Amino acid sequence: MTRHLISIDDLDRAGIERILDRAQSFAEVSGREIKKVPALRGRTVINLFYEASTRTSSSFELAAKRLSADVVNVRSAGSSVDKGESLRDTVQTLSAYDPAAIVIRSPHAGAAQLVARWTEASVINAGDGKHEHPTQALLDVFALRQRLGSVDGLSVWIVGDVLHSRVARSNILAFGRMGARVTVCGPPTLLPPQIEALGCAATPSLDGVDTADVVYVLRMQHERMRESFVPSLREYADRYQIDLRRLGPEQLLMHAGPVNRGVELSADATDSPRALIGEQVKAGVAVRMAVLYELLAGGRMLELAA
Ligand code: CP
Repeated sequence: MTRHLISIDDLDRAGIERILDRAQSFAEVSGREIKKVPALRGRTVINLFYEASTRTSSSFELAAKRLSADVVNVRSAGSSVDKGESLRDTVQTLSAYDPAAIVIRSPHAGAAQLVARWTEASVINAGDGKHEHPTQALLDVFALRQRLGSVDGLSVWIVGDVLHSRVARSNILAFGRMGARVTVCGPPTLLPPQIEALGCAATPSLDGVDTADVVYVLRMQHERMRESFVPSLREYADRYQIDLRRLGPEQLLMHAGPVNRGVELSADATDSPRALIGEQVKAGVAVRMAVLYELLAGGRMLELAA
């Protein structure tokens, strides 16, 4: 594994499997009453979030704390970013604390790559604009593997606002690398040109979604839309919303959250036992522990019995 995790492209299949296997052992730690191991004792992890987050920020914080790291959480709102401090100056300021890792979320594609140039710390991309969200994809593969045993040979349909979705880009790569066949589906205005170059099929029609083993629904990313991409949310929902009528009894449903209930997903589908949404959230802690461990302590023996 490289020093940073910017993209799923940083990992080959063996690298993904190594993280998933490590996450499996950390999932066991998370089931204990004392959910802590000493692997990163004395190391510092800085979570630097320039965009809203509930799941990623909380699970990175928990993951670092369960590895016994010292954790500093910086949100752009309320920090000196509000006074006009640049990303570069912010990173150089925080680097003075000698962090082992900086976890960065930014609305700008390429931000994590830039941060990696400005610090000696390992950099983990927690979502950069429309580009990638690699730890989301890793936890999605982990959650699916936990449920089904393997991802190899599965048909995964990724449905919705593909154009603005970093989750879609990372998941096309991760599911593909793990042996799944990936199809993306959405309104033509929300399908990026040449998306097939990432290794997936693309279609504007939900015809055939009944053949999927897994339907992965994407959030409508209103915050990234500068123009109108669908006639109205009601028409979008009529045509593309996944509800229990569109979902077969054997099909699994995934969504990275937060869900726009009644837009891309119906409430009954969101809350159904076919949905892995809660399992995805839970997987976030173990997978992010594994990523931190592999980047910062990968060569060392792990004392699970803290
Ligand atoms: N899935 C995800 O990235 O959620 P948050 O925006 O809440 O972190």
